[in-house]
Amino acid sequence: MTDQTKDRVFIFDTTLRDGEQSPGATMTHDEKLEIAELLEDMGVDIIEAGFPIASEGDFAAVSEIAKRSKESVICGLARAQIPDIDRCWEAVKFAPRPRIHTFIGTSPLHRAIPNLTMDEMADRIHQTVTHARNLCDNVQWSPMDATRTEWDYLCRVVEIAIKAGATTINIPDTVGYTAPRESADLIKRLIETVPGADEVIFATHCHNDLGMATANALAAVEGGARQIECTINGLGERAGNTALEEVVMALKTRSDIMPFFTEIDTRKIMHISRRVSTVSGFPVQFNKAIVGKNAFAHESGIHQDGMLKNKETFEIMRPEDVGLAGTSLPLGKHSGRAALRAKLKDLGVEVGDNQLKDIFVRFKDLADRKKEVFDEDILALVTAAMTTEGTDHLEIVSLKVICGTAGQAEAVLEMEVGGEERSADEYGDGPVDATFKAVRKLYPNKARLQLYQVHAVTEGTDAQATVSVRLEEDGKIATGQSADTDTVVASARAYVNALNRLHVRRSRTGSDVKEISYKDVG
Ligand code: KIV
Ligand code: ZN
Repeated sequence: MTDQTKDRVFIFDTTLRDGEQSPGATMTHDEKLEIAELLEDMGVDIIEAGFPIASEGDFAAVSEIAKRSKESVICGLARAQIPDIDRCWEAVKFAPRPRIHTFIGTSPLHRAIPNLTMDEMADRIHQTVTHARNLCDNVQWSPMDATRTEWDYLCRVVEIAIKAGATTINIPDTVGYTAPRESADLIKRLIETVPGADEVIFATHCHNDLGMATANALAAVEGGARQIECTINGLGERAGNTALEEVVMALKTRSDIMPFFTEIDTRKIMHISRRVSTVSGFPVQFNKAIVGKNAFAHESGIHQDGMLKNKETFEIMRPEDVGLAGTSLPLGKHSGRAALRAKLKDLGVEVGDNQLKDIFVRFKDLADRKKEVFDEDILALVTAAMTTEGTDHLEIVSLKVICGTAGQAEAVLEMEVGGEERSADEYGDGPVDATFKAVRKLYPNKARLQLYQVHAVTEGTDAQATVSVRLEEDGKIATGQSADTDTVVASARAYVNALNRLHVRRSRTGSDVKEISYKDVG
């Protein structure tokens, strides 16, 4: 079957809105711009870039993403209120292809919150969609909690939104309550019943509370939806949203029974998955479909034997189709810059010359300490290099740690703070605690540690540890990452890296949060 005989399904990515809304997944302005660029590059049709009225930061990110966009439609979210819609338009209007997405909760539970009668809500929908359409000719409307809204009322409000000028009708399963057959039927019946339904695109927006978001979204497509709303890695509130990589690869792999196609360049999936995981601080579970560390690993003897004889025995997708290199040899200390560049290309990582230089220095340092440098090690170095870029207010000069059963752990730290060399000797409850205390002694600050996470990158006792640290200070969040064969060194660097990022954010926003003088604290 050729693409001409299949139906196109539009991919609407909401990683930067519904995904970022997930507690703790906050991204910085620059990270949002980077992710938006990767989404556009991957072929995402519509990028929901944020909720412009939510904060100045959201507004700035949506408008900058809109200004930089080329092909993708840039969408902003707005409640069913005129100031929300106006603010949304102010941000998305810079895009060559802007969209306003406005929504209101239509189920009995949601109607009770603004305390509107059914008629009052119907009027509000008419008024707000008409207003949005007067500003922008691409308007999406969503009846939030559609899957728990009374059928007659749902038909009524969808009809009102279409008549008022909505061009896309999104049917959200806000609490992940529906099941595949019901999801397909709901869309099919709406298209058959609501006057004007054949003139708009129906979208599906599923949450994963019962683990059915991907199945429900695909079923909705079978019912007639032609836009899937999803996020990278399934990021999102509670159990998350439909995962982009799952629906896209399911449609590609089973096009024999699902005659649909998307324009996503699936070879870019792994890279963006890793970047979203890094910047959001949400690790990807090892056995996660498509992007998990083990998704293409074949451990058992029977599986490995089958794979060697014929890959299709256990492989329904080719790893390279999602941007994973085929099996490749590890690098070692004699590998040069060209080998590293080729390896990065294999891994689907694009870096500029300066980044390559930085990653090469880190690689050489690691190769001196570790016999074989595996793909996972290289990716950890890339992540560390990308997270550290441009942030050097604080720099660790040396760190010596004494720990064990003989007494309290002690950290002796020398660090440059804004060019001034400082040193401290601190004790703590274990080596990481002692080290973080020493950092705080040299750079007193009010940042609260929200997350401290360690992962072994590969197997073996000489494996690198990747450490993620998330800090919060006056509502601003910064994540730092680092990787090293020494867990305490990686922890110190990740902590300092997060502090550097907070420093950058303070100076950029002209925040009145003053750094506390280390001499005052003494
Ligand atoms: O889950 C939901 O209902 C939403 C809407 C705002 C579309 O995210
Ligand atoms: Zn949602």
